[in-house]
Amino acid sequence: MFVQVAPSILSADFAELRQAVQSLENAGADAIHIDVMDGHFVPNLTMGPPIIAALRKYTKLPFDVHLMIERPENSLLAYRQAGADHITVHVEACTHLQRTLGMIRESGAQAGVALNPATSEQVLDYIVDDVDLVLVMTVNPGFGGQVFLPAMIEKIKRVREVLAKHGRRFVPIEVDGGITPSTAASCMSAGASILVAGSYVFSANTMAQAISSLRGK
Ligand code: DX5
Ligand code: ZN
Repeated sequence: MFVQVAPSILSADFAELRQAVQSLENAGADAIHIDVMDGHFVPNLTMGPPIIAALRKYTKLPFDVHLMIERPENSLLAYRQAGADHITVHVEACTHLQRTLGMIRESGAQAGVALNPATSEQVLDYIVDDVDLVLVMTVNPGFGGQVFLPAMIEKIKRVREVLAKHGRRFVPIEVDGGITPSTAASCMSAGASILVAGSYVFSANTMAQAISSLRGK
């Protein structure tokens, strides 16, 4: 299976974000994961479209924008214009989830849906044709550096089954939170193919080595 590593700049020094995206590109990352938090959907507050637009000029890597914000439909075009290539929204943050996913696709971005640890994969039955990726949160969203929730391994398998049942087995499953080489290996065996990692990549001595060890190399 082809695995992609999308390091999260949430763990970068926010005064050095330009350098962070350039270093990640040089270190072999496949995409840059950008955690947008609004202080409402999650207790933390991070960055928005102006910072994403400012970073856009410094890397060719796709921007995988994870919106942990309420009512994302109100601002998703601004994220797209800022340079988002994938836009992922949370089930509980959208009043009309299917419509919001359609808006993301219409904007030209890939549409992702994020499932919190306590959100059932059954929701996928109703939106499976509207998504380009499924993000399985392996921690509760809001902060970097949390501990991986082992119960999410079974969930990844169930998400795989739901996708297969609907003939959508090529939709990638992304995992986010507490990802290290060992949790990454379990997630990949369960069917995940996009690995988000923040603290593991940014606390490593060498980013390139951290990224290849996540791939299992
Ligand atoms: C959590 C974010 C994650 C987080 C991952 O709300 O969505 O992307 O930054 O960080 P680590 O890898 O440190 O758990
Ligand atoms: Zn994230």
